[in-house]
Amino acid sequence: MEKKKITVAIDGYSSCGKSTIAKDLALYAGYVYVDTGAMYRAVALYAMERGIITADSIDEKRLAAALPSISIGFALQPDGSQHTLLNGNDVESRIRTLDVADGASRVSTIGFVRRALVEQQQAMGRDKGIVMDGRDIGTVVFPDAELKIFATASAEVRAERRCRELEEKGTPKPYAEVLENVRERDWRDTHRTESPLRQAADARLMDNSALTREEQSAIIRRWFDETVNSENH
Ligand code: DC
Repeated sequence: MEKKKITVAIDGYSSCGKSTIAKDLALYAGYVYVDTGAMYRAVALYAMERGIITADSIDEKRLAAALPSISIGFALQPDGSQHTLLNGNDVESRIRTLDVADGASRVSTIGFVRRALVEQQQAMGRDKGIVMDGRDIGTVVFPDAELKIFATASAEVRAERRCRELEEKGTPKPYAEVLENVRERDWRDTHRTESPLRQAADARLMDNSALTREEQSAIIRRWFDETVNSENH
Protein backbone atom coordinates (compact mmCIF):
# COMPACT_ATOMS: atom_id res chain seq x y z
CA MET A 1 0.00 0.00 0.00
CA GLU A 2 1.29 3.44 -0.83
CA LYS A 3 2.32 5.48 2.18
CA LYS A 4 0.05 8.31 3.22
CA LYS A 5 1.59 11.64 2.27
CA ILE A 6 2.14 14.38 4.80
CA THR A 7 2.54 18.16 4.76
CA VAL A 8 5.86 19.64 5.81
CA ALA A 9 5.93 23.26 7.00
CA ILE A 10 9.30 24.98 7.32
CA ASP A 11 9.53 28.45 8.84
CA GLY A 12 12.35 30.59 10.07
CA TYR A 13 14.41 33.75 9.73
CA SER A 14 15.76 35.00 6.41
CA SER A 15 18.91 33.33 5.04
CA CYS A 16 18.94 30.57 7.64
CA GLY A 17 18.92 27.76 5.12
CA LYS A 18 15.17 27.13 5.01
CA SER A 19 15.15 26.62 1.29
CA THR A 20 18.13 24.26 1.46
CA ILE A 21 16.27 22.15 4.03
CA ALA A 22 13.06 22.28 2.03
CA LYS A 23 14.65 21.41 -1.33
CA ASP A 24 16.69 18.55 0.15
CA LEU A 25 13.67 17.11 1.86
CA ALA A 26 11.37 17.49 -1.16
CA LEU A 27 13.90 15.59 -3.28
CA TYR A 28 14.30 12.88 -0.63
CA ALA A 29 10.54 12.48 -0.17
CA GLY A 30 9.54 12.93 -3.82
CA TYR A 31 7.32 15.84 -2.72
CA VAL A 32 6.53 19.17 -4.34
CA TYR A 33 8.57 22.11 -3.04
CA VAL A 34 7.03 25.58 -2.73
CA ASP A 35 9.12 28.63 -1.83
CA THR A 36 6.55 31.12 -0.51
CA GLY A 37 9.18 33.84 -0.05
CA ALA A 38 9.53 33.81 -3.85
CA MET A 39 5.82 34.61 -4.09
CA TYR A 40 6.18 37.72 -1.89
CA ARG A 41 9.27 38.67 -3.88
CA ALA A 42 7.39 38.33 -7.18
CA VAL A 43 4.61 40.62 -5.92
CA ALA A 44 7.25 43.11 -4.78
CA LEU A 45 9.06 43.02 -8.13
CA TYR A 46 5.81 43.60 -10.01
CA ALA A 47 4.95 46.56 -7.77
CA MET A 48 8.46 48.04 -7.85
CA GLU A 49 8.63 47.94 -11.63
CA ARG A 50 5.40 49.92 -11.82
CA GLY A 51 6.26 52.49 -9.16
CA ILE A 52 3.59 51.11 -6.82
CA ILE A 53 6.37 50.63 -4.27
CA THR A 54 8.99 53.33 -4.02
CA ALA A 55 11.86 53.82 -1.58
CA ASP A 56 9.60 55.36 1.00
CA SER A 57 6.00 54.49 0.18
CA ILE A 58 3.58 51.80 -0.98
CA ASP A 59 0.45 52.79 -2.87
CA GLU A 60 -1.85 50.22 -1.26
CA LYS A 61 -4.83 51.15 -3.38
CA ARG A 62 -2.93 50.52 -6.62
CA LEU A 63 -1.40 47.36 -5.16
CA ALA A 64 -4.84 45.99 -4.26
CA ALA A 65 -6.08 46.78 -7.78
CA ALA A 66 -3.00 45.14 -9.33
CA LEU A 67 -3.11 41.89 -7.30
CA PRO A 68 -5.64 40.05 -9.50
CA SER A 69 -3.37 40.59 -12.51
CA ILE A 70 -0.36 39.03 -10.79
CA SER A 71 -0.01 35.34 -11.50
CA ILE A 72 2.81 33.43 -9.84
CA GLY A 73 4.04 30.00 -10.82
CA PHE A 74 7.09 27.76 -10.64
CA ALA A 75 8.92 26.02 -13.46
CA LEU A 76 11.08 22.98 -12.88
CA GLN A 77 14.47 23.30 -14.60
CA PRO A 78 16.38 20.47 -16.28
CA ASP A 79 18.92 20.55 -13.41
CA GLY A 80 16.13 19.95 -10.89
CA SER A 81 16.04 23.51 -9.59
CA GLN A 82 12.90 25.62 -9.65
CA HIS A 83 12.45 29.06 -11.20
CA THR A 84 9.78 31.56 -10.22
CA LEU A 85 7.43 32.76 -12.94
CA LEU A 86 5.66 36.10 -12.84
CA ASN A 87 2.86 36.23 -15.38
CA GLY A 88 4.66 33.52 -17.31
CA ASN A 89 8.06 35.25 -17.31
CA ASP A 90 11.07 33.73 -15.57
CA VAL A 91 12.01 36.29 -12.90
CA GLU A 92 14.19 33.99 -10.78
CA SER A 93 17.36 36.07 -10.88
CA ARG A 94 15.51 39.40 -10.67
CA ILE A 95 13.72 38.50 -7.43
CA ARG A 96 16.95 37.52 -5.64
CA THR A 97 18.39 41.03 -5.23
CA LEU A 98 18.60 42.84 -1.88
CA ASP A 99 16.26 45.54 -3.19
CA VAL A 100 13.53 43.04 -3.98
CA ALA A 101 14.13 41.25 -0.66
CA ASP A 102 13.50 44.54 1.03
CA GLY A 103 10.38 45.20 -1.07
CA ALA A 104 9.10 41.69 -0.26
CA SER A 105 9.58 42.27 3.43
CA ARG A 106 7.50 45.45 3.10
CA VAL A 107 4.64 44.00 1.01
CA SER A 108 4.47 40.99 3.30
CA THR A 109 3.27 43.25 6.13
CA ILE A 110 0.07 44.05 4.19
CA GLY A 111 -2.94 41.95 5.18
CA PHE A 112 -4.64 41.73 1.79
CA VAL A 113 -1.41 40.63 0.11
CA ARG A 114 -0.94 37.89 2.71
CA ARG A 115 -4.53 36.69 2.40
CA ALA A 116 -4.28 36.39 -1.39
CA LEU A 117 -1.00 34.47 -1.25
CA VAL A 118 -2.05 32.24 1.67
CA GLU A 119 -5.12 31.21 -0.30
CA GLN A 120 -2.95 30.19 -3.28
CA GLN A 121 -0.55 28.34 -0.98
CA GLN A 122 -3.35 26.38 0.68
CA ALA A 123 -4.66 25.38 -2.75
CA MET A 124 -1.17 24.15 -3.74
CA GLY A 125 -1.07 21.93 -0.64
CA ARG A 126 -4.55 20.50 -0.85
CA ASP A 127 -3.31 17.01 -1.80
CA LYS A 128 -0.44 17.00 0.72
CA GLY A 129 2.93 15.60 -0.43
CA ILE A 130 4.29 19.12 -0.19
CA VAL A 131 7.22 20.85 1.48
CA MET A 132 6.55 24.56 1.86
CA ASP A 133 8.89 27.13 3.36
CA GLY A 134 8.18 30.64 4.58
CA ARG A 135 7.37 32.52 7.78
CA ASP A 136 3.78 31.54 8.57
CA ILE A 137 3.46 28.07 7.10
CA GLY A 138 3.20 26.16 10.38
CA THR A 139 1.16 28.86 12.09
CA VAL A 140 -1.26 30.13 9.41
CA VAL A 141 -1.03 28.33 6.06
CA PHE A 142 -0.94 24.72 7.34
CA PRO A 143 -1.55 24.76 11.10
CA ASP A 144 -2.32 21.01 10.85
CA ALA A 145 0.94 20.10 9.06
CA GLU A 146 2.23 16.76 10.37
CA LEU A 147 5.85 17.96 10.43
CA LYS A 148 6.77 21.52 11.32
CA ILE A 149 10.33 22.76 11.41
CA PHE A 150 11.49 26.14 12.67
CA ALA A 151 14.95 26.98 11.33
CA THR A 152 17.31 29.46 12.88
CA ALA A 153 20.96 30.52 12.90
CA SER A 154 22.74 33.54 14.34
CA ALA A 155 22.38 36.83 12.42
CA GLU A 156 26.16 36.91 11.83
CA VAL A 157 26.23 33.40 10.36
CA ARG A 158 23.28 34.25 8.14
CA ALA A 159 24.88 37.51 6.94
CA GLU A 160 28.08 35.61 6.06
CA ARG A 161 26.09 33.05 4.07
CA ARG A 162 24.16 35.80 2.30
CA CYS A 163 27.43 37.61 1.43
CA ARG A 164 28.80 34.43 -0.10
CA GLU A 165 25.64 33.93 -2.16
CA LEU A 166 25.73 37.52 -3.43
CA GLU A 167 29.39 37.16 -4.32
CA GLU A 168 28.72 33.96 -6.24
CA LYS A 169 26.01 35.79 -8.16
CA GLY A 170 28.46 38.54 -9.06
CA THR A 171 26.63 41.15 -6.98
CA PRO A 172 28.81 41.44 -3.84
CA LYS A 173 27.81 43.73 -0.97
CA PRO A 174 29.77 44.74 2.13
CA TYR A 175 29.25 42.48 5.16
CA ALA A 176 28.09 45.37 7.39
CA GLU A 177 25.34 46.30 4.95
CA VAL A 178 24.18 42.70 4.59
CA LEU A 179 24.16 42.20 8.37
CA GLU A 180 22.10 45.33 8.82
CA ASN A 181 19.68 44.13 6.14
CA VAL A 182 19.36 40.74 7.88
CA ARG A 183 18.64 42.42 11.23
CA GLU A 184 16.15 44.84 9.72
CA ARG A 185 14.25 42.04 8.04
CA ASP A 186 14.27 39.95 11.25
CA TRP A 187 12.78 42.85 13.12
CA ARG A 188 10.11 43.48 10.51
CA ASP A 189 9.27 39.76 10.12
CA THR A 190 8.80 39.29 13.87
CA HIS A 191 7.11 42.61 14.72
CA ARG A 192 4.48 43.02 12.01
CA THR A 193 0.88 42.73 13.15
CA GLU A 194 -0.14 40.40 10.29
CA SER A 195 1.12 36.84 10.90
CA PRO A 196 4.44 37.73 12.52
CA LEU A 197 7.19 35.13 12.33
CA ARG A 198 7.04 32.88 15.36
CA GLN A 199 7.76 29.27 16.12
CA ALA A 200 4.58 27.16 16.22
CA ALA A 201 4.16 25.40 19.57
CA ASP A 202 4.47 22.01 17.87
CA ALA A 203 7.41 22.90 15.57
CA ARG A 204 10.82 21.28 15.96
CA LEU A 205 13.70 23.73 16.27
CA MET A 206 16.64 23.41 13.88
CA ASP A 207 19.52 25.72 14.82
CA ASN A 208 22.02 25.14 12.06
CA SER A 209 24.64 27.78 13.05
CA ALA A 210 27.20 25.03 13.65
CA LEU A 211 25.91 22.21 11.43
CA THR A 212 27.13 21.15 8.02
CA ARG A 213 24.55 20.69 5.31
CA GLU A 214 24.98 16.90 5.56
CA GLU A 215 24.48 16.84 9.33
CA GLN A 216 21.37 18.96 9.06
CA SER A 217 20.01 16.90 6.20
CA ALA A 218 20.43 13.66 8.17
CA ILE A 219 18.48 15.08 11.13
CA ILE A 220 15.67 16.41 8.94
CA ARG A 221 15.34 13.12 7.03
CA ARG A 222 15.10 11.26 10.32
CA TRP A 223 12.35 13.61 11.54
CA PHE A 224 10.52 13.11 8.26
CA ASP A 225 10.77 9.30 8.35
CA GLU A 226 9.61 9.20 11.97
CA THR A 227 6.62 11.40 11.18
CA VAL A 228 5.61 9.45 8.08
CA ASN A 229 5.91 6.15 9.98
CA SER A 230 3.80 7.35 12.86
CA GLU A 231 1.16 8.68 10.41
CA ASN A 232 1.05 5.30 8.65
CA HIS A 233 0.63 3.25 11.78
O1 DC B 1 12.31 33.87 2.50
P1 DC B 1 12.52 35.13 1.67
O2 DC B 1 13.70 35.95 2.12
O3 DC B 1 12.56 34.84 0.21
O4 DC B 1 11.21 36.02 1.94
C1 DC B 1 11.07 37.31 1.43
C2 DC B 1 10.22 38.15 2.36
O5 DC B 1 8.88 37.68 2.36
C3 DC B 1 10.68 38.14 3.82
O6 DC B 1 10.90 39.45 4.30
C4 DC B 1 9.54 37.57 4.60
C5 DC B 1 8.39 37.51 3.66
N1 DC B 1 7.66 36.24 3.76
C6 DC B 1 6.54 36.20 4.55
O7 DC B 1 6.19 37.19 5.18
N2 DC B 1 5.81 35.06 4.61
C7 DC B 1 6.18 33.97 3.95
N3 DC B 1 5.44 32.87 4.04
C8 DC B 1 7.35 33.98 3.16
C9 DC B 1 8.08 35.15 3.09
